[in-house]
Amino acid sequence: VEHVSIAIDGPAGAGKSTVARIVAKRLGLLYVDTGAMYRSVAWLAVRFGVRPSDELGLTRLLDEYLLGFERDPALGTLVVRFQNQDITPELRSPEVSGIVSQLSVHPLVRERLTSIQRSLRRDTGVVMDGRDIGTVVMPDADVKVFLTASLDERARRRAEEITAAQGREVSEVSIRKSMAERDARDSSRDVAPLRPAADAYILDSTGKSIDEVVDEILRLVRESV
Ligand code: C5P
Repeated sequence: VEHVSIAIDGPAGAGKSTVARIVAKRLGLLYVDTGAMYRSVAWLAVRFGVRPSDELGLTRLLDEYLLGFERDPALGTLVVRFQNQDITPELRSPEVSGIVSQLSVHPLVRERLTSIQRSLRRDTGVVMDGRDIGTVVMPDADVKVFLTASLDERARRRAEEITAAQGREVSEVSIRKSMAERDARDSSRDVAPLRPAADAYILDSTGKSIDEVVDEILRLVRESV
């Protein structure tokens, strides 16, 4: 399975990054989390007080502060650095999650990040997850998966994840609300909206375990290469 490229798209909290990371590890491919890139722009916006509606201000930030996207060899995930500081843990904060879909509508922001994403697609092969990977970033990917789950299940999983990671209880209701808002904004934008590619395999993970979803994707890869 050398040089194989796998695109995994879908709404928030469908389990894309968990599944993509495992698939990449099993197949020895690079894993690229494109959501982390959009989140790092949101992080910069918060840090420097640039409004999410200010497209030019945001692109100026991106040009001025070169963010480092590196692969953590142990975890296999993307580490984002800002001036030698690892900001990865801060990318999942409610503050960042709350504005990221507002700034990902901007064509100039998407243009810059899309070109970084394409450059990460090396000769080693890649598993990339996001919203527009199968439609825009890698329209020629060997395998395209559109991973979904019911909104209730996605909110429940995300709440469990936050509780496990931070040891604090979070309101599932507020998570569900912000997820639904984000999905609506991601699906309705003009540029690169969230939608399955015409040739994507729709995988509904509601009621399925991580292992079952991973196995289903590995089967698709075997069938297609
Ligand atoms: O995948 P994650 O939930 O971390 O993505 C955060 C946000 O980044 C999404 O809600 C979306 O607004 C944006 N995004 C995007 N295109 C991608 C990946 C993420 O617009 N390929």
